[in-house]
Amino acid sequence: MPASGKSAVYRTFLLPGEMRFGWGVSETAGEVAAELGAGRVTIVTDAGLIAAGLVQPVQQQLRDRRIDTLVFSQVSPNPRDTEVLLAAEAMAEHQSDLVIAIGGGSPIDLAKAAVGIATNGGAPQDWVAPATFPAKPLPLVAIPTTAGTGSEVTRSSVINDTTRNIKISLRDSRIAAVIGLVDPGLTMGLPAHLTASTGMDALTHAIEAYTCKRATPVTDALALHAMKLIAENLDAAVQDGSNRDAREGMMLGSMIAGMAFSNSDVASVHCIAEAIGGRYDTPHGVANSLFLPFLFQHNATADIERHADVARALGVAQPEQSAADAAQSAADYLVSLGQSIGIPPLKAIPRIKPEDFPWIAAASFQNLSNGSSAREMDEAAYLSILDSAWNA
Ligand SMILES: [Fe+2]
Repeated sequence: MPASGKSAVYRTFLLPGEMRFGWGVSETAGEVAAELGAGRVTIVTDAGLIAAGLVQPVQQQLRDRRIDTLVFSQVSPNPRDTEVLLAAEAMAEHQSDLVIAIGGGSPIDLAKAAVGIATNGGAPQDWVAPATFPAKPLPLVAIPTTAGTGSEVTRSSVINDTTRNIKISLRDSRIAAVIGLVDPGLTMGLPAHLTASTGMDALTHAIEAYTCKRATPVTDALALHAMKLIAENLDAAVQDGSNRDAREGMMLGSMIAGMAFSNSDVASVHCIAEAIGGRYDTPHGVANSLFLPFLFQHNATADIERHADVARALGVAQPEQSAADAAQSAADYLVSLGQSIGIPPLKAIPRIKPEDFPWIAAASFQNLSNGSSAREMDEAAYLSILDSAWNA
């Protein structure tokens, strides 16, 4: 306790790693590995990225420096506990001294869990937050290939628990990337539907970081700027994937949104998205996008001014509008943005059916971020949101 005798009240802002942002920065992966003293590297990626030719240049850079490299590519779109164990085992057997994750949130999240388990043992279920790894995890370099999760800058790893069909979160600053190579050039070939869904994930991060109960002045500044960047660039990046300005704006927006939500929190949108992703393997960004407008509207009544701020950051508020009308404009914009960039409706999601809604509502309520929602959410509130999205 401080000398004043009063309990100190403070919040921490943490960026666990160093982010290097710019066109071509992924071409420095070999230099970075050498800088970190690596002799044996495991690359964690997925088969689609190998087929797209994004992994081979990094392999070549490592080969040029005579660094022995193993490629682990068994990563599902919603990474699984079983895959984490295989990756950790591969890293340990290979005696890797560095891990490089290349991909969207899935390979990076999987790599984060695996670098901890490679040196500590156990299964992802043994290290669910707030647990932290006592032995030092393997160092991780993250090279994002989507503008969405912000996983390169956060200390969280979200993994599918395949025995319970739920998502679990590991959180430890020592599993975060020590260096992120954030290169907008890697997103140039990303198909439109992935640009759309991952971009909506980034937008959800920014909006939830700002409107949730754990927002701070520092995360506010980051979240508002991320919203502006994403609103200015997402539609353009989807409509024309070769638009360099749009790609750069999205990559920056996604990274900044990651800095915001990892120091604030996400909230009810992510609670439902994670429940749905755990049960049906729905792409995370699609799941967020389907519920964002409804929960934005639901939460707005709890803090109308902050929801009006979101409308201003998105550039959709009119000067003469009341805060309530501005918030409504933002909710309308989120619906039309989802339609414009081709997010499918809830009824088009494979396997989803209303009989499962009580289970989804219960899983959403149990999510650790539920308490951060601007407006209190119980299971009945989640059910009503699910019904609204289903009947939209
Ligand atoms: Fe997310």
